[in-house]
Amino acid sequence: MAEKTYKIAWLPGDGIGVDVLDATKIVLDKLQLNAEYLHGDIGWEFWQKEGDAFPARTIELLKNVDAAMFGAITSKPVKAAEQELVPELQGKGLIYRSPIVRMRQMFDLYICLRPCKAYAGNLLNYKDDVDIVVFRENTEDLYSGVEFNPVPQELAEMLTRLSKPFAAFKDVPLNELAISSKIVTRQGSERIIRAAFEFARKNNRKKVTVVHKANVVRATEGMFLDIAKEIHQEYPEIEMDDANVDAICMWLLKNPKNYDVIVATNMFGDIISDLVAQMVGGLGFGCSGNIGLKLGVFEPSHGSAPKYAGQYKVNPIATVLSAKMMLDWLGETEKGARLEKAVAEVIKEGKIRTYDMGGSNTTLELGEAIAAKL
Ligand code: NAI
Ligand code: MG
Repeated sequence: MAEKTYKIAWLPGDGIGVDVLDATKIVLDKLQLNAEYLHGDIGWEFWQKEGDAFPARTIELLKNVDAAMFGAITSKPVKAAEQELVPELQGKGLIYRSPIVRMRQMFDLYICLRPCKAYAGNLLNYKDDVDIVVFRENTEDLYSGVEFNPVPQELAEMLTRLSKPFAAFKDVPLNELAISSKIVTRQGSERIIRAAFEFARKNNRKKVTVVHKANVVRATEGMFLDIAKEIHQEYPEIEMDDANVDAICMWLLKNPKNYDVIVATNMFGDIISDLVAQMVGGLGFGCSGNIGLKLGVFEPSHGSAPKYAGQYKVNPIATVLSAKMMLDWLGETEKGARLEKAVAEVIKEGKIRTYDMGGSNTTLELGEAIAAKL
């Protein structure tokens, strides 16, 4: 039977997203993945040109591919975004929304999977042997987009009726009041928590740590923790513990070996994953997959780092390791394993290093060095 030709959407975005995807292409070409790479427009440039950072043609493209590689996009604070497009949009509410957040919600990419492994010989490792996998819920929580500034009169009236603590804000002018909703569902919580336990079971991981703030944010975080305790019953062979998000920032640095798989709601998972990425060398090593039932979109955890854009200076390893995650997700595990081995070798040798690794090689030179090991 002829080998399958994968259709891969190729979404560099802007800033260093372009640089790191260029390096990743060198590696995938060397691996001879049988794939057609289809460019998609996304990011700030298209917001400015077309008023849409995630154009309909890119959405269509994503409906017709096996997987996608994404670089990064610049998401500016909404007020600045409105101003730069057309001054008339000012005061019209919160119009600009990050396209990657929209993509995760639109395609129901509910798992944000972020493995952080300390590769041997990486001088940037915080401590050796860190091997933590973060499961971040990817579609709900503070990213729901249900936000108000100014707050509509009807909403303020309703909150005054329904919520005692809201009385504290009753004299604040509505245009000086802002509300961002933290929306969490049972279904959304169950599926991310179950994904974390399933991963632990399949990969012989010993423990799942639930990160939350259940003591203060009782409705959403409290429900998330309760659901985790229920689901844990289905996985008796795996240990479960839990920690407040603030405390775990301290515990992770103090005793990183105590952590194995971590699961959290969207915002806390976002924050924790940058912290854990720094423990294994920084954002230049933080790989990530946005995974749903039908589509996987793989990207580095980092953003567009505008100050380094177009300089081919930043580290492509986070993106190359995200491509490895894509290969595994596609079932190309042999190629995935080869790619990870090549990355590990280049790190261990320490000859080709980008600026963050203490070297002066370019993004593309590091990509070529990895390709040369394949
Ligand atoms: P960032 O992740 O872009 O960069 C923070 C810093 O980390 C950089 O200045 C650089 O020192 C370092 N860094 C990042 N990637 C690196 C790499 N590959 N190699 C070496 N060093 C690296 O975060 P920042 O500055 O907060 O955000 C910049 C823009 O990116 C914003 O507009 C933000 O909204 C957007 N962003 C986009 C994301 C996405 O596309 N998924 C995710 C996070 C931020
Ligand atoms: Mg982030």
